[in-house]
Amino acid sequence: MNNSLFRLEKKTAVVTGGGSGIGRAVAELFASQGATVAIIELNQSAADDVAEGITAAGYNAEALACNVTLQNEMINAFNGIAERHGGIDILVNCAGIAHIGKLDTTSEQDFDKVYNVNVKGTYNSMLAAIAHMKKKQKGAILNLASIASSVGLPDRFAYSMSKGAVVTMTLSVARDYIKEGIRCNCISPARVHTPFVDGFLKRTIPARKKRCLINYQRHNPSAEWHNQKRLPSWHCISVPRKPLSLPGPTTRSMEDSSV
Ligand SMILES: NC(=O)c1ccc[n+]([C@@H]2O[C@H](COP(=O)([O-])OP(=O)(O)OC[C@H]3O[C@@H](n4cnc5c(N)ncnc54)[C@H](O)[C@@H]3O)[C@@H](O)[C@H]2O)c1
Repeated sequence: MNNSLFRLEKKTAVVTGGGSGIGRAVAELFASQGATVAIIELNQSAADDVAEGITAAGYNAEALACNVTLQNEMINAFNGIAERHGGIDILVNCAGIAHIGKLDTTSEQDFDKVYNVNVKGTYNSMLAAIAHMKKKQKGAILNLASIASSVGLPDRFAYSMSKGAVVTMTLSVARDYIKEGIRCNCISPARVHTPFVDGFLKRTIPARKKRCLINYQRHNPSAEWHNQKRLPSWHCISVPRKPLSLPGPTTRSMEDSSV
């Protein structure tokens, strides 16, 4: 990687779900690349821990306890971040929840819950960020979709629905705002070893958990969450021009499209 290209000095990056897993890895990396990082989290103590770790390492971060499902809360939080740090340049939407179930084993309550966090939460944070990016006529949004958005994963009815919506919201926002200098992309990882996956494995296949992960990591080293940082970073730097050829999980990029 050309390290000088991946500097984010004078950028303010908001990372939802930055208290754990992929969001935490992104928050730590972007701060080390020079960005001021604002972590939006439901889990306040996790967000505080990540922000404290970042500042202890000599970089800039703050933690905000916030629920992505609540639009007013998100708009107020983003307005505050923009006021304190001179705008918002980057948004990475990592807050998300999983759900196991087929069409007839997913309750209406569970469907609504997954929709509210994964779909409405992504909408709320993009909405809260876009006014600030429009003001500067530039910005980069990166949403976390999933391989579930394009592959029929068994037993993931509501989750797949939500990640399909993340892909289509991404395409729509990318097309609508590219003329204002705002890029919107999503990435669609396969399984990444984070607390999100640990919780699922513990609930569903505890006895096979260890063997399952060892086998998976042997075949896919990018399955560890700390190996997932390069792609988000590439999507959020200022001057991406050429498609990056990466092995492994599916990648969606609007970077070089003519929209
Ligand atoms: N881990 C994987 O295998 C995998 C694969 C593909 C996509 N993804 C997606 O990547 C994203 C991050 O996954 P992860 O594995 O790092 O998960 P994780 O559980 O480790 O982290 C998700 C974070 O989101 C926060 N969060 C949940 N609901 C929230 C809410 N309402 N408001 C604010 N914060 C909230 C949680 O507190 C948690 O810290 C998710 O959107 C997930 O769907 C993960």
